[in-house]
Amino acid sequence: MDTKKLLEDAEVDAIVIYNGNNEDLNFYYFTRLLDGGIFEGSYAVVTEEGVKVITSILEEQSAKKGNNEVYIFNTSSERDELLKKSLKGMNTIGVNYDVLSLSDFNKIKKVVGEANFKDVSGKIQEWRMIKDEQEISMIKEAAKIASEVAEVMPDFMKEGIREYELAARLGYEMFKRGAEDFAFTTIMAFGENSAEPHYLSGARKLKKGDFVLMDFGARYHRYNSDMTRTFVFGKASEEQKEIYYTVLEAQKLGISMIKSGVNGKDVDIKVKELIDSTKYRGRMIHSTGHGLGLAVHDHVGLSSQRDLILKRGMVVTVEPGIYVPGFGGVRIEDDVLVKDDGHEVLTFAPKDELIEV
Ligand code: GLY
Ligand code: MN
Repeated sequence: MDTKKLLEDAEVDAIVIYNGNNEDLNFYYFTRLLDGGIFEGSYAVVTEEGVKVITSILEEQSAKKGNNEVYIFNTSSERDELLKKSLKGMNTIGVNYDVLSLSDFNKIKKVVGEANFKDVSGKIQEWRMIKDEQEISMIKEAAKIASEVAEVMPDFMKEGIREYELAARLGYEMFKRGAEDFAFTTIMAFGENSAEPHYLSGARKLKKGDFVLMDFGARYHRYNSDMTRTFVFGKASEEQKEIYYTVLEAQKLGISMIKSGVNGKDVDIKVKELIDSTKYRGRMIHSTGHGLGLAVHDHVGLSSQRDLILKRGMVVTVEPGIYVPGFGGVRIEDDVLVKDDGHEVLTFAPKDELIEV
């Protein structure tokens, strides 16, 4: 990471990220401490010479796995002293307004004393959108784990199994394949529950003819995948097939448009146009996709509400859906890496035929 270049771009002398009252994922972005540690109450100080980590003795071993200068404190006054020292002579200090709590900001100002503070949240967001090789390899592995799990999940669908039981199995299958955590709480929706896009899971028992919608992701060395597959338990009705294949066509159209230079807004518009040209007009009630990375919703992705010119190295989800309240819904979601001349789909579980289990 060329910290000198980043600081020049943000027009600051240093950036201070505090993993304080609010967890700031930028701590991991800058330090690349991707291999264990929680780092509560720790600072990452980005300077021209590199990144300094100020952390407690509790995290010493985890911190030393990285390539940063590490400073250990035992007490909060030692922490304050270390921060003050690391920012000596710096006039303009960048902070992340998006995450830093007001009380933490006031604490930093008190410790540092005379300095100008500048909001660099927009710049950090810009940098984070373009993933480097290391980040892409983590996301790829997270996507691989999720894809393999999606493939085996039909084996565990049995009449009468409850949503939370199947969600538990899904978690087990992910951890067994090397996930360090869930990317987010799994959505496991049977039947009519699949019409609720952000349903979680409950005691609903699986019965013949149900949609089974699972939206889940693996976290691997702090980077996430996010995928959705929808199945039918038993034989699919004509209506279920129609919904499924409409979503599939929309999803394939969305993916086919992804390449550097395209506006994410246009992808969402085209995908929705397709769905709105069918009898499911108005039934896609969210945007087509979002950025993916250290956060599951890493940045704006494919939304008619916002311009986002796609660039090489971005990773976005493509996840159209159709939701019919009281009946059910279908969503199909893949993770897609933007390339100069096209894209690479990172998730790979089958989807071309509606799977009847
Ligand atoms: N995986 C849930 C969502 O993207 O909103
Ligand atoms: Mn998603």
